Amino acid sequence: MKTLLTDSHEKAAEIIKNGGIVAFPTETVYGLGADIFDEKAIAKVFAAKGRPADNPLIAHVGNRDQIRLLAGEISQHAEKFIEAFFPGPLTVVLNKANSIPEIATAGLETIGIRMPRNDLARRFLIACENPLVAPSANLSGKPSPTRWKAVFEDLDGKIDCILKGESTEIGLESTVLDCTGDVPVILRPGAISLEQLQKLVPETEVYKPGKTEAPKSPGLKHRHYSPNARVVIVSNVEDITCEKEKCGFIGLVKPIQEFSQLCICRTTEEYARELYSFFRLCDQQNLKTIYCESVEEEGLGAALIDRLRRASE
Ligand code: TXA
Ligand code: MG
Repeated sequence: MKTLLTDSHEKAAEIIKNGGIVAFPTETVYGLGADIFDEKAIAKVFAAKGRPADNPLIAHVGNRDQIRLLAGEISQHAEKFIEAFFPGPLTVVLNKANSIPEIATAGLETIGIRMPRNDLARRFLIACENPLVAPSANLSGKPSPTRWKAVFEDLDGKIDCILKGESTEIGLESTVLDCTGDVPVILRPGAISLEQLQKLVPETEVYKPGKTEAPKSPGLKHRHYSPNARVVIVSNVEDITCEKEKCGFIGLVKPIQEFSQLCICRTTEEYARELYSFFRLCDQQNLKTIYCESVEEEGLGAALIDRLRRASE
């Protein structure tokens, strides 16, 4: 299949309306969208990514009214989170409406819903009219794409269109928050932090296997976010020993050793924004090991550490 590259959200929306699948930018990472009511198009999304069929997709809406199309009842705490953080990098998991095809949610009775705040994403979503399901637009198991060129690298010839936008502002996937129980549970940390959520609903907690009641997010059991290179998390930059031509380093403090690829970031935000494209760069250069400096596990740092741990498993 020929993949169309365009910066017209109208053209991209036409393709969706004709049953095609389109990669598009959001503030977190690029997504691969299909009309939520088009089962054939959704099947194409799973096929293009090589995504396991038991991993549910997130529904993306262009305005708040569309949430009612997708969800059964909306709990009080969910209302609060939607009010405060939509549009933005938060996905709320709610009980799903009957009209949602099973393939979208991998047979679950619940559905993750998110309203991106990226401008191009919103214009595109509104032009599509129906909500879209959209996983990250990478091959399953690879780091999520933060630039359209990374989407191209993974999915050229496998999808109908790439809506070209800027590189993504946050660079890590949205916070996934289960709102179906009495207590909201973070299934995947992201840019909307535990601290921010607890300001609205103090009982909010982070999912802990075996401890928390909420059903485990199916996506958590799959290998994720990993480059081919080995990822090693280091707390003290001076402890690293490596052959310089085979290693990369990303972090906040510049090491004294030499590395063949180096990415020094001024802030945790910049670190998060650069991480996945750095992983891809190191893979292109066939590096054996990527050393990643540890950060404080609070705010965005909690999401960054989560992705580093998964990549290093
Ligand atoms: O930032 C993001 O969320 C990006 C952009 C494109 O919006 N999307 C994204 O989608 O990261 P994906 O499919 O790569 O990751 C979705 C995660 C998976 O871990 C999945 O298992 C979980 O959300 N998830 C989706 N629906 C769920 C549900 N109903 N219950 C529990 N977990 C769910
Ligand atoms: Mg993904």
